[in-house]
Amino acid sequence: MKLLSGTATLDLSKAIADVLDVPLTNVDVERFLDQEIFVKINENVRGEDIFVIQSTSAPANDHLMELLILIDALVRASAQRITAVIPYYGYARQDRKTGGRTPISAKLVANLIVKAGAHRVLTLDLHAGQIQGFFDIPTDNLFAQPVMERDIKEQFSLKDRNNLMFVSPDVGGVVRTRSLAKRFNADIAIVDKRRPKAGQSEVMNIIGDVAGRSCILLDDIIDSGGTLCNAAKALKDKGANDVTAYISHGVLSGPAVERISNSELREVVITDTINQPQAVKDCDRIREVSVATLIGEAIRRISNDESVSKLFD
Ligand code: R5P
Repeated sequence: MKLLSGTATLDLSKAIADVLDVPLTNVDVERFLDQEIFVKINENVRGEDIFVIQSTSAPANDHLMELLILIDALVRASAQRITAVIPYYGYARQDRKTGGRTPISAKLVANLIVKAGAHRVLTLDLHAGQIQGFFDIPTDNLFAQPVMERDIKEQFSLKDRNNLMFVSPDVGGVVRTRSLAKRFNADIAIVDKRRPKAGQSEVMNIIGDVAGRSCILLDDIIDSGGTLCNAAKALKDKGANDVTAYISHGVLSGPAVERISNSELREVVITDTINQPQAVKDCDRIREVSVATLIGEAIRRISNDESVSKLFD
């Protein structure tokens, strides 16, 4: 087995390499003056089972193109099996036509990855599970849930855990929220969210009695922070004791860090699927937990033809 990292998530790739005790393959990723990407793999990969790790996070187009070019280089270097490990799958929110004459970009990106020559995909908390079907190759969608469950157990005492209420910030997140709540035998509440315009969110109502409860908001993505900060305020207005958020992918664009710093959120816990700038690292309300062990173990299992779903039993 060989591991190869793109430039999007080098820290996570190194952590995965440590978990597996396999060094990262030596590769140069360079730019021509006009910004075209050029890669050169500096080791023999002929006949290898190779895992290319690259999130298609911002700048999404550059990181996606880099992934495609890395896969192309591996195909031409006669790698035997190429797995695209995409901890954060960008463009996932464009998973259906939202109106006339609009694209389904999540499917287009899947086509590009398959066409480039990937044999398998390994990803984590896809925005919508059915995106797996956009790939006509085996696709494993991991869940950050075990990592979050462990962290919640570390952060909340046994007594505090009895007062937890898991909250979905919109109707789309109910299945994910119920699944984690079940692990704690806890209740769930749902935020009735509307989007009057793209990039803006409004809380219409809270379904469930959150008064006096410690609320845990769960979401796959925090982008501008609007959804979570508005939800946290609405929960506090309804009498919640405190609100913590657990998010798989810290996209954190635009005003997100400032919004979080001025919000009712006690803490926002994100995973390391996206490499964060210093402003995020410096924000004392944002904490990162690692999915390196989870992804590393999934890679090991895929390479050994073992069950991946066993990881979530
Ligand atoms: C939407 O369905 C997603 O699950 C997130 O709730 C959304 O992307 C968060 O966006 P923002 O942080 O910009 O409100």
